[in-house]
Amino acid sequence: MSTFATENTQATPGSQAPAVSVRGLNKAYGDLEVLRGIDLTVHPGEVVCLIGPSGSGKSTLLRCLNLLEEPQSGDITVSGFDVTDPDIDVDAMRRNVGMVFQQFNLFPHLTVLENCTVSQVKVLKRSNAEAEQTAMTNLERVGLVEKAQQRPGQLSGGQQQRVAIARALSMNPDLMLFDEPTSALDPETVGDVLAIMRTLANEGMTMLVVTHEMSFARDVADRVVFMDGGVVVEEGPAREVIGSPKHERTRSFLSRVLNPTKVDTPE
Ligand SMILES: Nc1ncnc2c1ncn2[C@@H]1O[C@H](COP(=O)(O)OP(=O)(O)OP(=O)(O)O)[C@@H](O)[C@H]1O
Ligand SMILES: [Mg+2]
Repeated sequence: MSTFATENTQATPGSQAPAVSVRGLNKAYGDLEVLRGIDLTVHPGEVVCLIGPSGSGKSTLLRCLNLLEEPQSGDITVSGFDVTDPDIDVDAMRRNVGMVFQQFNLFPHLTVLENCTVSQVKVLKRSNAEAEQTAMTNLERVGLVEKAQQRPGQLSGGQQQRVAIARALSMNPDLMLFDEPTSALDPETVGDVLAIMRTLANEGMTMLVVTHEMSFARDVADRVVFMDGGVVVEEGPAREVIGSPKHERTRSFLSRVLNPTKVDTPE
């Protein structure tokens, strides 16, 4: 069991209930139906990678999970919270869910340490001393203790993303959502971020990860979910979906992602 997960004292009714349960989720922007009847389950301690082409609805799905988007219909529970209940305590739900975005979204005017403490103090009402101790523990985990007093602008992209992960972990979430956390990084820093995510996964953190990093998905994920056109086309054990996909759409997506420079020659 994760050291991060066990420390959480928030209400999590039914600890063996799924960490994420999505049933019949529909989301449209005007006439554009972006999610069309999505079902998805993530069990506690599980790592699920969400893959699929641009525009297939991956980010929208993640955003529906913590109510950054409001779905038209469907049932969603996250960490025991009924997300579609109009009376939900949104702040309480979000305290249990760490989110890491493609763009790191750090506060540029705050130090690395302050970025990791501000929500702990404001939202969790921790003392400054306790927040700093938790932040330093997590900065150590991501290998950035020596950068604690610097500002994000003085760090590389990969280092900033590691700070974003430390910041999320400092809230002791039950669940971490990652939306293409390495897509904006220089190739040489991608490995550092993936290594930290791999460690978190090994420690038992429940993770839902949108990624184009197929070797990470194959090696780290318990399950892979392939989305296209707002529906789940195929899901299963990572090695099966990536190694021997059943559906033609999955196959053609994977061949494009795994051979990005391959140009189809006309017959
Ligand atoms: N706020 C919005 N208003 C209108 N349309 C939107 C909005 N957000 C997303 N969309 C549309 O919804 C569809 C799904 O977008 P989404 O960002 O979820 O895709 P994605 O799978 O994350 O793609 P990518 O791999 O490029 O990040 C796209 O057609 C997008 O243009
Ligand atoms: Mg996206």
